[in-house]
Amino acid sequence: MPDKPVVERKLSELGDTTPERVVARFAEVREEFDRQAVTHSNDPESWRLFVIYWTGRKSGVLSQITDNWLKPASKELKPIVGQELNKLKTHVEATLEEKRKEIEAVAEQSAAARDQIDLSLPGVERAIGTRHLIRQTFEELQRIFLSIGFRVVEGPEIETPYYNFEALNIPEHHPARDNMDTFYIEGSRGGHLLRTHTSPMQIRTMEKEKPPVRIIVPGKVYRRDNPDSTHGYMFHQIEGLAVDTDITFCDFKGTVEYFVREFLGPQVKTRLRPSYFPFTEPSAEVDATCHICGGSGCRVCKSSGWIEVFGAGMVNPTVYGFVNYDPEKLSGFAFGLGVDRLAMMKYGISELPLLFQNDVRFLRQFP
Ligand code: DAH
Repeated sequence: MPDKPVVERKLSELGDTTPERVVARFAEVREEFDRQAVTHSNDPESWRLFVIYWTGRKSGVLSQITDNWLKPASKELKPIVGQELNKLKTHVEATLEEKRKEIEAVAEQSAAARDQIDLSLPGVERAIGTRHLIRQTFEELQRIFLSIGFRVVEGPEIETPYYNFEALNIPEHHPARDNMDTFYIEGSRGGHLLRTHTSPMQIRTMEKEKPPVRIIVPGKVYRRDNPDSTHGYMFHQIEGLAVDTDITFCDFKGTVEYFVREFLGPQVKTRLRPSYFPFTEPSAEVDATCHICGGSGCRVCKSSGWIEVFGAGMVNPTVYGFVNYDPEKLSGFAFGLGVDRLAMMKYGISELPLLFQNDVRFLRQFP
């Protein structure tokens, strides 16, 4: 059995029965205190514990001495124990107070150092960037559609084949899937993929909301294309969808023309060319007069005077079947804009990769 600590035992048990022994005992305790004060003085947490160890109300060393040495002391020894204890207390308190002042002084000093500001020094200059051209184009496109009553929704870039294909009337073995060169995510349960277009959000929105629906969906899409001057493995689209009880082909054409003129300029003309998308019927390719030659024919438009701008059409009634919309009562149109392509057209950029190389000499041209 290890000995109980000295302060937990009575003086009589320690054999301190004479005033000389009592004084010597207190001297020992004081020495111990001074030693500990030195070793605990560097770290605030260790100092805090040291203070509690000595002055703690219930089991601090000073309280223990009062309970175990002073109270049970014999009549003859009590005065000398009391006297020694008071001297020890005074010493402990003085030491702690001194240290407290020291700590405060240091804290004040470093606060003062922090507050010292030299107003003549130059500030930290932060280079101000610009929004990326793609971001600017997104904002421009969104402004146009928001002003005619569309709302922005966003959706997941990792999709299920159901939303990316099936519900858009592209069944498993439909050849339209081959065109998409999809990135499938290996080993994912249920076979996930990177969305090849923003069209899945047509389905997700109609599943959740009752008509009328008027949304645009900005976002990134992915295809396993070989990179060249107009292709990359990732690009940006804005999907559009409007469904209501009374939407006609005229609304579709009017919206498309309004958008093209707002975005490319009032002089630009639009035409619709028959096309095919499984989720629209009829489908159209929207062309605009060439922004380079104004329609007279040049190298960029391959002498046709027209440039293909985006795909669109009236929503195929089959799609309504997937979202519990009544095809007898509802009609609508949809479109899918290639944002990078529109930016390249509008700002005369010939190489798609320039948009993603983060070369500030390029980016600075579009403040
Ligand atoms: N999702 C098509 C694509 O990425 C683009 C598209 C065409 C979207 C016609 C539409 C649409 O909403 O009606 O190739």
